[in-house]
Amino acid sequence: MDLEAIRKSVIECTKCDLCKTRTHSVPGKGNFNSDVIFVGEAPGKNEDLKGEPFVGVAGKKLLLALENAGVTRDEVYITNTVKCRPPKNRIPSVLEKETCQEYIQKEIEIIRPKIICVLGNTAFGSILGGNEITKFRGKVGRKDGQLYFITIHPAATIYNQGLIEVLKEDIKKLFEIIRELKNGKEIPIDIEFAS
Ligand code: URA
Ligand code: SF4
Repeated sequence: MDLEAIRKSVIECTKCDLCKTRTHSVPGKGNFNSDVIFVGEAPGKNEDLKGEPFVGVAGKKLLLALENAGVTRDEVYITNTVKCRPPKNRIPSVLEKETCQEYIQKEIEIIRPKIICVLGNTAFGSILGGNEITKFRGKVGRKDGQLYFITIHPAATIYNQGLIEVLKEDIKKLFEIIRELKNGKEIPIDIEFAS
């Protein structure tokens, strides 16, 4: 399967009940050769209307942090743990996350990013089994040989202006790490996650 095929499967998917309330499902989007995949929680209202990830207010915050690191949206690949909007933006259920996870697994398998950037607690929980994002943000993790960078969800910066600086600083650090990885440098691992 290639990313186009995954995109089509996501658009047509009816594997969980979120298909009944969505306007559009939201496949991952961006550079198929990206060194990094950004993983958010689930689509919100604007994403549901447009069928694209991070195109609302949270998306603007993510874009600010990328621009601050000298990176454009099109250079990276952006996706979510769950591809359809949960009603009223509630957190996706365990069943929804489990049902949808085959798509993100395939996105990761195909793109084979140098590092995966986990945005916020929901993605942190479902991908690495973690919680307490504020304790782990800014850190590098490894699970089954794959590197992860952990940071806060861009939506957290909407009502807390101080946090935009935190997000910017983290994303800048992420791209410094990517530069080092590309130069063949060893990156210190802060946390090993059990598989
Ligand atoms: N929040 C998310 O987690 N993902 C999006 O795509 C938009 C907002
Ligand atoms: Fe399918 Fe995922 Fe949408 Fe559920 S959330 S319908 S599993 S694409």
